[in-house]
Amino acid sequence: MLLQVQQVTRRFGAETLFADVNMDIPDNGRVALVGRNGAGKSTLIRIIAGIDAPDKGQIVTRKKLTLGYLAQDTGLDSNKSIWEEMASVFAALQAQEDQLHELEAQMSDPDIIADPDQFEQVTTTYDRIQSDFKANNGYGYRAEIRGVLHGFGFNEPDYDRSVNELSGGQKTQLALAKLLLEKRDLLILDEPTNHLDVETLTWLEGTSGLTRARC
Ligand SMILES: Nc1ncnc2c1ncn2[C@@H]1O[C@H](COP(=O)(O)OP(=O)(O)OP(=O)(O)O)[C@@H](O)[C@H]1O
Ligand SMILES: [Mg+2]
Repeated sequence: MLLQVQQVTRRFGAETLFADVNMDIPDNGRVALVGRNGAGKSTLIRIIAGIDAPDKGQIVTRKKLTLGYLAQDTGLDSNKSIWEEMASVFAALQAQEDQLHELEAQMSDPDIIADPDQFEQVTTTYDRIQSDFKANNGYGYRAEIRGVLHGFGFNEPDYDRSVNELSGGQKTQLALAKLLLEKRDLLILDEPTNHLDVETLTWLEGTSGLTRARC
């Protein structure tokens, strides 16, 4: 079980929006919340995502659950380029990559080569970082970014475009792309498909296990 909604109630003033809601999100589950406009879907979703507190009841999650949330009608807001935004998910890998390059430079430095102890130390550090880098898909993360961006219709010529010059729909797509790259345990998306065409939806369903249901 990833998450459980237990007897959750939300009131606004004297109005009860919903009362005693129970819901389970099982491992690998896909749950769609369907209701008329104003029914309280976004309000419940914000409670589930931990952004708002319920008036009564509680949300119980699996230990160390990582959760991604995309609010209704929002998108990525950034001065960075599309590529920089996506690559920022892999900042730790990029830092390791810089370290590896630095160590490579040291390994070809004649002074270090001439000193067996120092050379040994540099190569040992290099091996350790490289094996970690490899295990975390260090050699594959760029391909991963390209794959996800391609799924949303962004290709090489778009990579350097600034996020803040894109349309609202494109910003939503990029927020979703970033969430997919972050690989959270649970994604909570409030009407994410409003800005997606059928082709993108079909790709997304295959990629991430999302259903086409509105939520
Ligand atoms: N902070 C608030 N104070 C008072 N009323 C609120 C507040 N937030 C939401 N509401 C009311 O709660 C109701 C449910 O809103 P909510 O946004 O959860 O609906 P929804 O089901 O997501 O609708 P939609 O399909 O249009 O997105 C609405 O009537 C809204 O006006
Ligand atoms: Mg809503």
